[in-house]
Amino acid sequence: MKKIAEILKTSLQEVHKASDINSLDSVRVMYVGKKGKFTSSLRSLGSLSDKERPAAGEEINKAKSTFMKAVSLRKAELETIALEEILKQNSIDVTLDGYASSRGGRHPISLARLRIEEIFKDAGYEIKSGPEIEDDFHNFTALNIPDNHPARAMHDTFYLNNGNLLRTHTSPVQIRSLLLQGAPIRIIAPGRVYRCDSDQTHTPMFHQVEGLVIDKGVSFANLKAVLHEFVACFFGKEVELRFRPSYFPFTEPSAEVDVLWGKDKWLEILGCGMVHPNVLINAGVDPEIYSGYAFGMGIERLAMLKYQVDDLRVFFENDISFLRQFN
Ligand code: DAH
Repeated sequence: MKKIAEILKTSLQEVHKASDINSLDSVRVMYVGKKGKFTSSLRSLGSLSDKERPAAGEEINKAKSTFMKAVSLRKAELETIALEEILKQNSIDVTLDGYASSRGGRHPISLARLRIEEIFKDAGYEIKSGPEIEDDFHNFTALNIPDNHPARAMHDTFYLNNGNLLRTHTSPVQIRSLLLQGAPIRIIAPGRVYRCDSDQTHTPMFHQVEGLVIDKGVSFANLKAVLHEFVACFFGKEVELRFRPSYFPFTEPSAEVDVLWGKDKWLEILGCGMVHPNVLINAGVDPEIYSGYAFGMGIERLAMLKYQVDDLRVFFENDISFLRQFN
C-alpha cells in the first residue's frame, strides 16, 4: 500500500509536469498502459493472500482513478493553453490603420454638361435628346441645308451603308422636338456628335449642346440676354461677349459668339441666330406667328476654358492622374 501511495504521488507530479498533450499521453501510457505501473500492480494482486487482496485491489483502483482524473484535468488545461496560443497568433490588431478607399469622380466633360443643363433648367428649358444615327432629312435638309449645299461638305460626315449618317451636330434635335411637340418650345439638347476630322483641336466624336426657343415675339435681344446670363453662370464671373456676324443655313441673321479671355484674346464658343423661316416651315411651325432663336455650343471648348485645359485630347485619353483632379 505504501508503494501504491508512492506511485500515485510521482504519477501526479509527472502529470503536472507534462507541458503538452503528447507528453501527457506518454505519462498516461506509462501508468495505465498495458505495461503501465498501475496495470502491473493490479496484475500482481494474484500473488497476495485472499485476505490482503480486496483492500489492495481497492487501493490500486482508487489510485488509478485519482490518476485518471488528474490526467483529464491536465488535458483540459493543456488544450486551453494551446487554444489561447492559436488565438494569440491569429489575433487582429484593431488599432491598425485601415486601407483608405479613394472616391471616384465625374469626367470633366460630364461635369460641364451637367452644369450647363442645370443653368438652362433653372431658366425654364427642358432637356431633350435625339438619336446619334440620323437621317439626311433631320441632319441636313430640314435645317435648310439642301443637297449640293456647300455646307454639307464642311461637315465631314460619317455615312453609313444604308444612307444614314452619324449626326454632325445636335441641330437635328431642333427638328425632332418641333415635329413632336410644336411651338411654343424652350429646350436644350446635349449630346455626342461626329465628324471625320482629327487633329490637335478636333476629335472624331465630341459634344455639343443645342438650344432652341420658339414663341411669339422672340427677338435677337432675348438671345443675347440669355447667352450673357448663361456664360456668366457657367464661368462664375462676368465675361465679355462679342457677337460676330456669321452664316449658318438654319439661322438668319446668324452670329458666332466669342468670349474675351485674358487681355485681348477672343475665343469662339458658340454659333447662334434667329431660326430661319424655312426651318420653321420644315418643322411644321408657322413663321408668320412664331419666331425664335437657336444656338449650338461645343462642350469640350467650354470645359477647356472653365478648367484651364489647353489640349483637347486629354479629355479622351482618360489618364487617371488627369481625371483625379476633378474628384
Ligand atoms: N450646328 C452648328 C455647328 O455644329 C452650331 C450652331 C450654329 C447651332 C448656329 C445652332 C445655331 O443652333 O443657331 O457648327
